[in-house]
Amino acid sequence: MGPDRTAAILTLEKASRSNPGPWVDHSRYVAQACGCIASRCGGMCAERAYVLGLLHDIGRYARVSSERHLIDGYRLCVERGWEKAAQICISHAFMIQDIETSIGTFDVSREDYLFMERFVDVTIRYGVHPSTVDRRKKTLELKAYFEHKIGCSIYTLLPGVIENSFR
Ligand SMILES: [Fe+2]
Repeated sequence: MGPDRTAAILTLEKASRSNPGPWVDHSRYVAQACGCIASRCGGMCAERAYVLGLLHDIGRYARVSSERHLIDGYRLCVERGWEKAAQICISHAFMIQDIETSIGTFDVSREDYLFMERFVDVTIRYGVHPSTVDRRKKTLELKAYFEHKIGCSIYTLLPGVIENSFR
């Protein structure tokens, strides 16, 4: 059983007290975006998407960190039995399933790095191509996928984005 909205909000508030920062509002905006997009996609639960969005960066409760927040979040959610949230915490930096395409710093132990590596298939190597380009391409593919499902631009559903970015 995953967390409900109240549990997710309380967990985020507690995390915000232990390590305040812009990541907390970022999490709230991501949650709204996830909820808005999911509500327009057939077969997706907007409430669940909202809750999972709220928790995706929850590992930042522990400290200011880079990729370490992925595994810190994973562990927090596993402890609570929140399996899907745990999966999203550890995987959300890898839109390409190759750990080496991460653009963050692996501020984790060797053991933790190997643990995280198991979550991303190291099947494709990008050689000299900077991962940033592939990540951007993959992100645009995901955007196109959801825009096809919802039948409009994703930006029209993201709170504040049109006002803040296109005007
Ligand atoms: Fe993150």
